[in-house]
Parts: sequence; C-alpha cells; structure tokens
Amino acid sequence: MIILPELPYAYDALAPVISAETMRFHHDKHHATYVKTANELLAKSGETPKDLETIVLDAHRAGNQKLFNQAAQAWNHGFFWTSMSPDRQSPDGELTAAIASAFGDMAGLKDKFVTEGAGHFGSGWVWLVADGSGVIKVISTHGRGRSLTESG
Ligand SMILES: [Fe+2]
Repeated sequence: MIILPELPYAYDALAPVISAETMRFHHDKHHATYVKTANELLAKSGETPKDLETIVLDAHRAGNQKLFNQAAQAWNHGFFWTSMSPDRQSPDGELTAAIASAFGDMAGLKDKFVTEGAGHFGSGWVWLVADGSGVIKVISTHGRGRSLTESG
C-alpha cells in the first residue's frame, strides 16, 4: 500500500514562491488522489505490496499504463516535496562541478530550468537529471511524468 507522506515543512513554508493554497492543492488533492487510485488498482489486482519506486518501474515494464500513471505521479509529487526547502541552500562538491560543466553556473541552470518549464503546454514536470556518468541535464516530462523511466 502506498502512503501519502506528510509535507516535510508547513504548507506556507515556501511562500511567497509557492503559496500554501498551491501546496494544499498539489498535496491534499493531486498527490492524495494519485495515492488513493494507485492503492485501489493494486488492491483490485491483488498484487503484493512493494515500495512505490518498484511499483512504478514494474508497471512501466508490464505496460500497465493505468497503474503506472497513478504511481508515477505519486512518486513525482513525493520527490517534489523533498526537493524543496524553506531554508536557502546551495549545491556543493560534484554537483557544483556538474552544473558548471553543463550550464556555466547556477544562474545558467536556473535560466534553463525556467525556460524549460515556461515552454510547457499544459501540465508536466521539469527535471534536473544525471545520466550516471557525471553529466547532468534538464529534461521535461509532460502530463504524467516518468522521470524514473526516462532519466536512465
Ligand atoms: Fe500536482
């Protein structure tokens, strides 16, 4: 069974960048609904409970698009919450070097990230991904994001 995680900070902790209303909408409505629907699909299929990442990858491999869409969006939202913090932070070490190599500097990464997101038609996700060789890049997924299966 998939569990809806609590936000790791208060709903208004990221305001004014992201309002409490927006956080509630994406956590309490979007994320909660993806978790609920995925659990219903899992219960209907009688599958043994697994961790969410395994459910996403197995559903993708099996071509179970219904379950994949719900589970992937639950994973995406969960990842999103833990990718942000009300405390300003900066990358260091290998990530700083990878950002410099790929985008010139942090401002270059931000510019690429914002441009990618602004170019979306409809809903979707923008990701900073690594390909396993130290190279990072910004990619988009549309509608139901599939970062686990598209980022390598
Ligand atoms: Fe959402």
